[in-house]
Amino acid sequence: MCGIVGYIGQSDCKEILLHGLEKLEYRGYDSAGIAGIDHTGLHISKEKGRIADLRQIVVDSFHPFIGIGHTRWATHGAPSKKNAHPHQSSSKRFTLVHNGVIENYDLIKHSNLDHIHFISDTDTEVIVQLVEKYVEQGMYVEEAFRHSLKRLHGSYAIGLIDAQDSDTLYAAKNRSPLLVGLGDGFNVITSDAIAVLQITNQFLELKDQEVVILKKDRVIITDLYGEIQERKPFTTQLDPSDIDKGTYPHYMLKEIDEQPMVLRKIVQRYQDENGQLIIDREIREAMQKADRIYMIACGTSYHAGLVGKDYLEKFSGIPTEVHIASEFSYNLPLLSQNPLFILISQSGETADSRSVLVKVKEKGYPTLAITNVPDSTLSRESDCTLLLHAGPEIAVASTKAYTAQIAVLALLAVDTAIQKGLPLDFDIFSEFGKIATVMDGLIHNKEIIAKIALNYLQHTRNCFFIGRGLDYYVGLEGALKLKEISYIQCEGFAGGELKHGTIALIEEKTPVIVLVTQESVNLNIRGNAKEVAARGAHVCVIATENLTMDGDAYVLPKVYEPLSPLVSVIPLQLLAYYAALQRGCDVDKPRNLAKSVTVE
Ligand code: G6P
Repeated sequence: MCGIVGYIGQSDCKEILLHGLEKLEYRGYDSAGIAGIDHTGLHISKEKGRIADLRQIVVDSFHPFIGIGHTRWATHGAPSKKNAHPHQSSSKRFTLVHNGVIENYDLIKHSNLDHIHFISDTDTEVIVQLVEKYVEQGMYVEEAFRHSLKRLHGSYAIGLIDAQDSDTLYAAKNRSPLLVGLGDGFNVITSDAIAVLQITNQFLELKDQEVVILKKDRVIITDLYGEIQERKPFTTQLDPSDIDKGTYPHYMLKEIDEQPMVLRKIVQRYQDENGQLIIDREIREAMQKADRIYMIACGTSYHAGLVGKDYLEKFSGIPTEVHIASEFSYNLPLLSQNPLFILISQSGETADSRSVLVKVKEKGYPTLAITNVPDSTLSRESDCTLLLHAGPEIAVASTKAYTAQIAVLALLAVDTAIQKGLPLDFDIFSEFGKIATVMDGLIHNKEIIAKIALNYLQHTRNCFFIGRGLDYYVGLEGALKLKEISYIQCEGFAGGELKHGTIALIEEKTPVIVLVTQESVNLNIRGNAKEVAARGAHVCVIATENLTMDGDAYVLPKVYEPLSPLVSVIPLQLLAYYAALQRGCDVDKPRNLAKSVTVE
């Protein structure tokens, strides 16, 4: 969701800005723009649509040495050229890009800026107009910027340039991600390190309500009152090759294929030389103290949490609830005496999850983040973190982060059981080893799924996924994947629940994908499959080899049953991928979606 990149230095940064925006495309966007200053003055280009469309309108003769760029995911005002960033003040002296939401923008507009003619429908435009207003009242730009920020309620990552001063780039951050990148003779700002990885691997982390003054050879961080804040740079561990698509047609396919490798990496990272689990003492203590775990997440991470609940209750005996972050935040349930909050988030930036984190921290409850991004907001602000080690996930539809989340939750549950002296009848690391090999086989034979997609999904307008127990949770994820990228209307249902209403939607040829991996409910789910088949459904059964029957569409090798979601989700991810491909959809960048949802 909205991405920012900015540069100040000596060289022509047009390509750095455009390339940076392309690297931020994965976050989801509907318009984009850049502005910069070269020897002829300030130039601004913005366009609805893709970066490729923006490239068409940026003139060759523009050679800026300071500039800002933005990808916009519409919140206030439709996706349009008019609402695309950068936005300018009335005199066009100040130009600004913003990621986040200014909650009191309307109040500011009417109480402070009622004489201003606003061009766009955005909340952002008030910021740049406020800066100009305070400068007109006699403040220095830096002072005016800080003064404006103090008026804002909400979230922001901002880049600002002044047409009258090409030696300074201004930036600020509050609850939206922003990093400063350091170079030799240049400095940059970015929403994500990957956007500038080709020019630097040195970064400064920013805290909320900090302001940055960037010159080409130095960076000054202050708080909103101008107090200098010291910060040490860090070197990112990201490798540019991690974000390269290589020979793959889509990131999603690459990321599906990477899952066995990720599982093996998780084993490496979480196992010591004696075969024992490595988990921080602080996390172990928090798990021992917790009388109930509250898992908070959104989307795919929420679905991984549902599977994780099963592990935490079955292996480690801790009652666990899983909540959708955006609901939990405003409807806090009655909590136990000693709750532990686990926030699951691939990006570590999801605003809904962060909103819960802020609220539960205020109440003094312990928190653990399970995330893929080490320096992300959730990771920094939680008491402890467990990392997914999945490598950057670029496709909007999450795949490898989902399986990594399930694997890490299983490790946490197993470790807690071991610490409590509870009996376990399996060795998690050797099971992960076997599962990685099974994943390899499924990925190798992916054309079978391409044919199933053609057979079942090519012309359908809807689809259902059913399962029981863990299969129900995996079905929810299968349905989410399919709807996200193919736009087929689909839902996951508990097999037994379908007949209580939703079965009314089953018509001749409605595809119903049935998951059968859980022996204890095998007969029940088979019964549910028959119920829909009797009403004309086109039933596609995906079953484990020990539970398979004649007529099943796809057979999964058997693995340790509780860990079956790590395997059964793979055909569902591939099914979504091929269905989207066959329908000509933009697999990696589905409409209306954002990878990193930084607004509530
Ligand atoms: C967005 C993405 C989903 C993702 C969800 C949670 O909605 O489109 O794919 O599952 O955010 O993201 P997180 O980074 O918190 O796991």
